[in-house]
Amino acid sequence: MVIARTIEGLQEAKQKFSGSIGFVPTMGALHQGHLSLIQHARRENEHLIVSIFVNPTQFLEGEDLDSYPRKDEADIKICELAKVDILFMPSIDAMYETDELRIGAPAIRGYVLEGEKRPGHFDGMLQVVMKLLNLSGADNAYFGKKDAQQLALITQMVKNYFMDVNIVPCEIVRDERGLALSSRNVYLEGDEKERALCLSASLKKATQMVLAKELDAETIKKAMLEVLKDADQVEYIAIVNREFKALKKVEIGNTIILVAAWVGKPRLIDNLWI
Ligand code: PAJ
Repeated sequence: MVIARTIEGLQEAKQKFSGSIGFVPTMGALHQGHLSLIQHARRENEHLIVSIFVNPTQFLEGEDLDSYPRKDEADIKICELAKVDILFMPSIDAMYETDELRIGAPAIRGYVLEGEKRPGHFDGMLQVVMKLLNLSGADNAYFGKKDAQQLALITQMVKNYFMDVNIVPCEIVRDERGLALSSRNVYLEGDEKERALCLSASLKKATQMVLAKELDAETIKKAMLEVLKDADQVEYIAIVNREFKALKKVEIGNTIILVAAWVGKPRLIDNLWI
């Protein structure tokens, strides 16, 4: 495995490639969720690039940029074992200059839910993903459904800018009790680990209701809120279609139910695709 820390290093290592390129962008502190993307990409491509870059432009003032978990040594081992060809770990200076041209999230889809709670987050995320996709030269790039709105916006960016890359959505990986894996789960302390299970439990409740033919969004949200009482603060429960428009009734095959809540220090998100 080549570890490239500069743009030139990445370009040089890529020159040895002759076939399809799979790419998995991450912010590191790798867990099984990331690994499932990496393995998925490994199976489907001749060459595999993973990036680790804690992207400052997608963190808002007061968010956890400085304390974001960093585990470079362990991450390098994981990538080696997963047969990654190039691990790209650039510095901030390599990725950005001052007074850059900016890419912006779309006005509606980019400013509801996560976009409303974290204004500017998606602009920075799209900016770095555009850079990383261009640098990697990927044929296929892999993203988790865990960050559903992120995935939708990246898919839209690729479409709107006619980018020549296939975006591959990947299933959410959970622990044995249902908690969606996240680098931020390391912030959970004591009983918060237990209480954090209420996010996935609320989605399970929604599934049961839909299976029992209850499709009314308000009724489902009310029942979910009841399950979410173990969280310290619920930021939103949303039932939207794949375009992120609010739905009055669940449409089977075209619905995402999303939840964001604070449990102790971390703000957690989870969702369910129906
Ligand atoms: P990060 O949070 O490190 O996530 C990297 C990728 O792993 C994303 O596509 C995310 O959706 C996926 N992922 C995280 N947890 C997952 C889980 N439990 N199951 C399945 N996939 C999971 O998302 C980012 O980084 C950044 O915004 C990035 C796209 C790298 C741009 O900076």
